[in-house]
Amino acid sequence: MMNEFKNTVREVTAVYGPSGREKKAGELLAGLIRPYVDEIVTDPLGSVIGVKRGTSGKKIMLSAHMDQIGLIVLDIDEKGFLRFAPVGGINPEMTIGREVVFENGVRGVIYREEKDVKPPVKLSKMFIDIGCSTREEAEGHVCVGDICVYAPHFVDMGSRVACCALDDRICCAILVEVMKSIASPHDIYCVFTAQEEVGCRGALAAAYSVDPDFGINLDVTASADTPECDPMPMKLGAGPAIKYMDDSAVITKPVIEFMHAVAQKHGIKVQNEILPYGGTDTWAVQPMRGGKAACCVSVATRYIHSAIETADLTDCLAAVSFVKALAEEKELPIE
Ligand code: CO
Ligand code: ZN
Repeated sequence: MMNEFKNTVREVTAVYGPSGREKKAGELLAGLIRPYVDEIVTDPLGSVIGVKRGTSGKKIMLSAHMDQIGLIVLDIDEKGFLRFAPVGGINPEMTIGREVVFENGVRGVIYREEKDVKPPVKLSKMFIDIGCSTREEAEGHVCVGDICVYAPHFVDMGSRVACCALDDRICCAILVEVMKSIASPHDIYCVFTAQEEVGCRGALAAAYSVDPDFGINLDVTASADTPECDPMPMKLGAGPAIKYMDDSAVITKPVIEFMHAVAQKHGIKVQNEILPYGGTDTWAVQPMRGGKAACCVSVATRYIHSAIETADLTDCLAAVSFVKALAEEKELPIE
């Protein structure tokens, strides 16, 4: 189970898919759930929506975002160096010295200007070197407007793994596992959303079209178990986390109580999540069409938005059981 899941994580973190350019990631994920759903569509924003029909007449929207943070080319200079801007929350410190890859497979490396540049270095003082000597040569490989991502390098540390794009492909992998064996009385909409990293836009569109009775989002959250970090309750290996609040959503009390009751009923060890910064697709479902009951199951993850995001696969496997248990429950926390 662990190894099979690890292979799925390795596969889904390796595929290219920054915000607005999710086609390849969407095709891979659609292929992984296709055997387990009755229908599958890709909406005009690029979100993949698979449906497994139930009989209760109620709809549950499971969601995880498939887009990753990226860098968009702003300019190509006469020596073939690329200037860029962030697509999503790029941390400048984490960006110098990284390898990047474009959708067409072109690779490059990131460095900074040498003169009068003091830390913290801004992205505007950095450039991508794709191994070309002139603008004309570079333009043969990359265009202004192309988006690259950190090159995936999967670090296998046993039950813990590190890679870029664990945010949120690790939760996409969890949803793939959920879809393999879920048996719910409700219609299950499995949504891999586009454009979360630039403001939850894919989830907003999908929440409108799916119009669910209950939303279960999955995303990574911070982990406060590294040296000298801010005090928060989340840590690696302590189980899937029940979100209480982040910058974008406060989960309502009946929903929180439902989650704890289901965890207890199934003997699943959970932890609580309170994230004082950052938002998730949970936000897109909650205020939709007169208001929705919605929750978020989070995976504690270290070094989010770096190329070495680190999570514990035992938390993920427990999250598979937890999400299934929540979505299979006959009585949902709705009026
Ligand atoms: Co993110
Ligand atoms: Zn995320």
